[in-house]
Amino acid sequence: MGLLDGRVVIVTGAGRGLGRAHALELARNGAVVVVNDLNVSLQGQAEVDGPSPADEVVAEIEAMGGTAVTNGSSVSDWNAMEALVADTVERFGDLHAVVNNAGFLRDRMMTSMSEQDFDAVIEVHLKGSFTVARHACSYWRTQEKAGKPVSGRIVNTTSGAGLWGNVGQANYASAKAGIAMMTVIEAMEMQRYGVTANCISPIAATRMLGSIGMEGGSDGWDRLDPENASPVVAWLCSEESGWLTGQVLRVDGHKLIKVGGYTIDAEYESKSGEMLTVEELSVGVRKLFGVFPPGLVIK
Ligand SMILES: NC(=O)c1ccc[n+]([C@@H]2O[C@H](COP(=O)([O-])OP(=O)(O)OC[C@H]3O[C@@H](n4cnc5c(N)ncnc54)[C@H](O)[C@@H]3O)[C@@H](O)[C@H]2O)c1
Repeated sequence: MGLLDGRVVIVTGAGRGLGRAHALELARNGAVVVVNDLNVSLQGQAEVDGPSPADEVVAEIEAMGGTAVTNGSSVSDWNAMEALVADTVERFGDLHAVVNNAGFLRDRMMTSMSEQDFDAVIEVHLKGSFTVARHACSYWRTQEKAGKPVSGRIVNTTSGAGLWGNVGQANYASAKAGIAMMTVIEAMEMQRYGVTANCISPIAATRMLGSIGMEGGSDGWDRLDPENASPVVAWLCSEESGWLTGQVLRVDGHKLIKVGGYTIDAEYESKSGEMLTVEELSVGVRKLFGVFPPGLVIK
């Protein structure tokens, strides 16, 4: 018995890199996998020639005795993602999880990032994570209203850039930060229908990470292998993970890290107990941050 026997999962951007590894791990654990991939370059341009990487992933899954189909639509295409969810349900009888993973980069500094660079990256990551989940959530809500059992799972993909920032990635990091918060909202809204939403923050030596080199472990174990994050994705797609929602889990090599959200660190209250004044802020803000220049006398 596999952890995911009988479960049907859509993985976006699953033709290569992390998505491919997720699709294979899901299939290894018994899931039927819909392998979505538009097959574009690292900057999101149409790929030239060659076999579709999504077809190759499907062939690998079939070779291990699993069931998979390809879908070649863009995650940012609203209608195509609606059709993807509908077709999946029609073909396999149900849908249990969506893994939002597709994306590309257009890194530029603030002063050289074009409108197209900004829009394209927001569209593929932020909108592209919303579209699939949006249509899946409608399906799950309808199922729940009809009295059918639902154990829906949304697994989103954020990144260190979206959580802590990275120079040259105003577009990408904004999208990834948005995805982390979208996960929280999805969790809040969908819990009542039996659906959870969680987010992974992977790190892997795919073409996206670039040539930073591999760090081998003591036994030749590869800390940056894209497969490292996939067991976490598989577990999050399972029925067993139903108690966990609204979380960001960073997978760094062999470590699973619980990432906290924004917290309130400190407070400053106005002297009057009413509205803050501009005059008191020069000292008030320094008190809040504990930053005082030498010689400043605070009254
Ligand atoms: N590699 C890392 O270290 C890392 C770190 C943090 C987050 N991530 C995230 O993980 C995800 C996968 O990244 P990767 O490193 O495997 O990249 P990758 O470039 O190897 O794979 C991304 C896949 O997405 C597909 N894709 C792009 N646009 C698409 C669209 N509109 N519709 C459908 N498919 C589309 C591409 O064709 C490609 O096969 C991305 O969301 C990325 O931001 C990666």
